[in-house]
Amino acid sequence: MESVSNRVTTTLTWSNSISTSSLQIPQVFSIRCTKRLRVCCASDRTQKMTVSVTGATGFIGKRLVQRLHADKHSVRVLTRSRSKAQLIFPVKEFPGILIAEERDWKDCIQGSNAVVNLAGLPISTRWSPEVKKEIKQSRIKVTSKVVDLINGSPEGVRPTVLVSATAVGYYGSSETQVFDERSPSGNDYLAEVCREWEATALKVNKDVRLALIRIGVVLGKDGGALGTQSSKCFYLHFMLTIRCIASFLIYNLSSSIVGSSYI
Ligand SMILES: NC(=O)c1ccc[n+]([C@@H]2O[C@H](COP(=O)([O-])OP(=O)(O)OC[C@H]3O[C@@H](n4cnc5c(N)ncnc54)[C@H](OP(=O)(O)O)[C@@H]3O)[C@@H](O)[C@H]2O)c1
Repeated sequence: MESVSNRVTTTLTWSNSISTSSLQIPQVFSIRCTKRLRVCCASDRTQKMTVSVTGATGFIGKRLVQRLHADKHSVRVLTRSRSKAQLIFPVKEFPGILIAEERDWKDCIQGSNAVVNLAGLPISTRWSPEVKKEIKQSRIKVTSKVVDLINGSPEGVRPTVLVSATAVGYYGSSETQVFDERSPSGNDYLAEVCREWEATALKVNKDVRLALIRIGVVLGKDGGALGTQSSKCFYLHFMLTIRCIASFLIYNLSSSIVGSSYI
């Protein structure tokens, strides 16, 4: 099996560190974020793309689709439930967006320039053995399907980019250690999930540019960490806003970055 490092030619590193702190946005965050957004926004001047998105109806996916649609890219929402997606992306507000359930994913992926893979059972639930199994399996199943559909696409209609989510959980957790992209994977359950999730994405055809995005804690008014976590004793990886992550995903779609990106 090919390792991530074999495939990496460039690594875009945005800091991620772990510290114990109450839930508040440090001032330095907004300064860093502004700098980063400036980098990301450079991608707004790129050619129009057709992008298929799994997990598009989720917290990050919704914002990504809004941004892509506002920037006049064509968006294909790959969902398990058309009716749910239609409520989230009503045709009046999102004219031209294509919504497809699983049996139609193939037709959507073929002819897309890029695929963004965000699907997976939310982890912010009580972890029974069954839920833990589903957290891992849901990610591997969707990623595997996306990879198979990309690999099976005839040349000419095959997407050239796969941006696939993973998480900073890859590194494990610590109250004292600082992790960066050279750190090895951790020993806990989430690290195992991330390793298998990434290994599945790495099976994509070698001609397809793969960006694995190890996402940290995302903050937003209508969901994410602010929507689900108590503000007390919150162990932070690196916090980022929903706006940052949407910009970063779009940046990865259109830049020439290959390998793992950390946000
Ligand atoms: N939000 C964060 O702070 C954060 C941090 C690190 C990593 N991430 C990762 O980034 C990705 C997107 O995050 P998010 O917060 O936007 O996730 P989310 O709001 O939980 O949405 C995930 C989407 O995945 C699909 N999904 C849910 N359960 C599923 C299942 N059992 N099988 C297949 N698909 C399922 C759903 O789409 P449909 O119903 O339309 O199919 C859902 O809208 C996730 O994989 C997450 O692990 C997020």
